[in-house]
Amino acid sequence: MKPQVIGSESLEALSNAAADFLVRRAMEIVRAVGRFTLALSGGSTPQRLYEILARKPLKDRMPWQESFFFWGDERFVPADHPESNFRLAYRAMLSKVPVPESNIHPVGTGTGSAHEAAENYERDLQKFFGVNNKPRFDLVLLGLGADGHTASLFPGDPVLNERRHLAAAVRAPAQYAVKDRVTLTLPVLNSAACVLFLAAGREKKKMTDIILNQPQKAFRLYPAARIRPEDGELFWFTDREAH
Ligand code: 6PG
Repeated sequence: MKPQVIGSESLEALSNAAADFLVRRAMEIVRAVGRFTLALSGGSTPQRLYEILARKPLKDRMPWQESFFFWGDERFVPADHPESNFRLAYRAMLSKVPVPESNIHPVGTGTGSAHEAAENYERDLQKFFGVNNKPRFDLVLLGLGADGHTASLFPGDPVLNERRHLAAAVRAPAQYAVKDRVTLTLPVLNSAACVLFLAAGREKKKMTDIILNQPQKAFRLYPAARIRPEDGELFWFTDREAH
């Protein structure tokens, strides 16, 4: 499936376009099957998208009661830590909308180790999607690191070869403030029905261009280029600086 690129002038325009797309898709899927499952992205790019979803008019259109929220990755920090991806989405969106608490499935990072958190998250995914089914999210939001990582799948990490586990504990490279993380693995991300990459800012241009224009070369080098839904759609929402 060739990526579909949706270019916008700015991060604001990108965030509005992605929010409109997400709500339309959620409404369609809830009408069809009664529920909508998402894996949210971390990092800073999606914050504006989350804020737009939490305000009128989209707040009133999104089927919050029937939408179920997971995360593509999490830093192994307490849920109230400034670096927490859960905290980002909760403060910007989930705390402001009528989503039932039981519909929110954070990666539990309060105690133990990142490895234990990954095991527990995997159990939660299996319980939700069915232990004999590979989780198939209706929509996965992903960001792009300038180094080509996505979620917490970093270049050269052995987790890129993980085919059995749904979630894994990883160590981010030295330049990242929070090293211990939990990430969904490629089999789960690539079983999604729809993946939306959000790529904005000048610092993402080089990587976005390589991934979109030289996919084979990028596939060998960069985890973000390995996101190719087996039976799903792939969209890149970019701003003018990134592509
Ligand atoms: C994380 C994210 C990560 C992020 C990229 C882009 O936990 O950091 O999941 O994959 O999406 O690093 O981050 P920005 O949006 O902040 O550029």
